[in-house]
Parts: sequence; structure tokens; C-alpha cells
Amino acid sequence: MSVDIIANPYKKDFPLLIGHPELAFLDSAATAQRPTAVLDAQRTFYETMNANPLRGLYELSIKATEAIDNTREHIAKFIGAPSGTDIIFSRNASEALNSVAKAFGPTVVGEGDEVCITVMEHHSNLVPWQQLCKQQGAKLVYLYPDENGIISEEEMHAKIGEKTKIVSAVQVSNVLGVENPIKRLAEVAHEVGAYMVVDGAQSVPHIKVNVADLDCDFFAFSAHKVFGPMGIGVLWAKHDLLEKMPPFLTGGEMIDSVTEQDAVWAPIPQKFEAGTQDAAGIYATDAALSYVEQIGFDAMEEREAALMSYLGEQLENLGFIEVIGPKDPSKRYGAFSFNIKNIHPHDVSSILSDENVAIRAGHHCAQPLLNFYGVRSCCRASVAFYNDAADIDKLVDALKLVWRIFNAS
Ligand code: ALA
Repeated sequence: MSVDIIANPYKKDFPLLIGHPELAFLDSAATAQRPTAVLDAQRTFYETMNANPLRGLYELSIKATEAIDNTREHIAKFIGAPSGTDIIFSRNASEALNSVAKAFGPTVVGEGDEVCITVMEHHSNLVPWQQLCKQQGAKLVYLYPDENGIISEEEMHAKIGEKTKIVSAVQVSNVLGVENPIKRLAEVAHEVGAYMVVDGAQSVPHIKVNVADLDCDFFAFSAHKVFGPMGIGVLWAKHDLLEKMPPFLTGGEMIDSVTEQDAVWAPIPQKFEAGTQDAAGIYATDAALSYVEQIGFDAMEEREAALMSYLGEQLENLGFIEVIGPKDPSKRYGAFSFNIKNIHPHDVSSILSDENVAIRAGHHCAQPLLNFYGVRSCCRASVAFYNDAADIDKLVDALKLVWRIFNAS
């Protein structure tokens, strides 16, 4: 193996990991740890530029506004978007996806139409479409993966047709870690005149995303999974679609003018950002992206691939692990889900917690996917580049303990 996963040059950047050397943190798909640079940026904002952005004509407020606009530009470059103007801040990816389903959805989906999603969707990219379809009298159609976790060409052509108005898909599944063929889905969607929405919450932390290359129409992700603060979501969309899309939230600073009975919207992006933004969080998101760029996606991907391969091998060697989803997808990004026969995942995770191993157990906000694989819940170990072989060894030792506890005669 070319990458040394025993050495760990990254842990030193993460105060929580330094402060808890006993912890094997294997739950980065739920939320990542933050490096010092991000924590410092949050403090720097409040110490040096704290004022309400957009509202004030004095220097501090202008600095706060600039901090937000600079982050928009940075995010645009980070995801390959043509302009920072089309970057909209929300509280999280769920809110960003809800705004597309609730504000844009009704403008293109009507009675008898179809919205097509994959069965791998996190509930945040599933329930909003369910609600839209119920409200509009439309049908929600599902794309199912084959035994390798792939949405095949046949499946796309069987499910996406002239009734389809929106196709929405997760780029990387939070349960399976597999990557969906977004570029191809966008092509097939566009062939029938449908729009392509992408949930990038689990892809942005692991792979270099380029929305222009994917040719999707909407793309959402959260800062907290990409080493930034909680409470910051991002929606990018093609500019002409943002022009057509009504605001999801209305109120302060999203208007140009208001009369007693009417309002004229402010230009994009303000039109979509009612109320005071978490400016410090946005400023810290800028720092998170700079940190990722400093490491580089090539180095991150290489290290994560080595970690995932070691994790897969070690779990398989245990002999009592049941993998959820494809046994051998060509690649798994970050997440590996499994069960231990006849042991409830919550019991597994509680015992692991006593052994200082943090994983997630439950339905992972993806109940239809778990149902598809015939389970109600499962364990999920998820890695980031700041993990190392020792974290995985600790997980394996703790799983052996679980097995011994439940199989002692
Ligand atoms: N979406 C996050 C997860 O998969 C919370 O755990």
C-alpha cells in the first residue's frame, strides 16, 4: 500500500482528537471534526468584524458583508460553479433541498407528473419530494441499484420518461458510500426536459465536485460534513433557475421594496436569504474549504481509499459481519454499513461506546434503503482522512468483544 495509514500527519490539526487520544472517531458521515483553523476563524469573526452584514453602512458591517461574499466566491470555485452570486446560504443541506422541493417544485411539477429519486436518498432528499408529489397530485418514482450498488442505464431509462419533471439523487450514499452516476442521470433527465437536483452532503467531503461538469441544475451540501461549522447549508443552482424560483423564506433583507400589500424581491442571492445569516459560521466555512484545499483532494482520496480498504478487509476477517449493500462496490466513500448476526445495532454501538469507539447505529435517516436491503437498522463506521489504522484496529477489537459478550455460553 502506497499510503502509510499507521502514520497520521493530520490528527494534530483537530483539537477534539488531540484532547481525546483514547477515542476512535468513526462517525464523520454524521458530522466531521473541525480543524483549529475553522475554530479560530469563528472567533476571529466575532473579535474583528462582528456586525450585522448588509444592514449597516459602517466599516464593520461592510467587512461582515465582504466575509460572506468572499465565501460565496470560494464555494463557487470549490464546486466548479461559474459565479458566487448563485451560492445561497441556508441552515443545512436539508433546508437547501426543501427550498428546491417547496419553492421550485410546484413551478414545474403538476398533476400526473413524476419526480424520480433513488431509493438511497437520505430522508432530507426524500420526504420533501414525497410532500411535493402529494401536494401536486404527482407520482414519486424510485431508481433501485443493482447488486453492485449501481443505478444502471436500463433502470434510468425504465424510470425517467416524458412524465418526469425532476430527477433528484444523492451523489454519495450516507449508508453505502457508493457514488451514483450523476452526470449520466443529468443527461437522461435533460433528454426528457427534466431538472437534475443533487444532494452532495456526503460527496463534497470526499471527492472533487464540479457542478459544471456534472451539468446538474441544483446542488446542495452542508458545511459541517466538510470540516466547517454546523448550521451552514449551501444551495447552488443555475442562474436562470434561481431567477424563476420564488423565495422559500420571506422577511428581512430579501426584498427590494415593500408596500402594505406587496413586495418586490431583492436580486439573487439576497432574494433567498431572509433574516440574519450566521456570518461567523460562513466565514469559518471559508476557512474549512481552505484547509481542505491545503491538504488536496488527491491526498485525501488516496488516504481514505487506503483506510476504507483496510476497514473492509479487517471487518471481513472477523467472520461474523454482514455487510449492508454491495459486498464489493468499485469504491466506497467514507461509509461502511454492517450488522452482526442476531445482535441489535444499538447494543453494538453502546458496547463500542464503552470502548471509546464512536460509530452510528440506527436507520441513518434512510429507511426506504434499509427496507430495500431487508433490515430495520444497522451499524455504520465512517472515516475521514484524519483517521488511521489504529482507529480501525480499535473498532475491530471492540467488535470482537461484542461478539464474545453475546456468544458466551
Ligand atoms: N446525514 C447524517 C448521517 O448520515 C446525519 O449520519
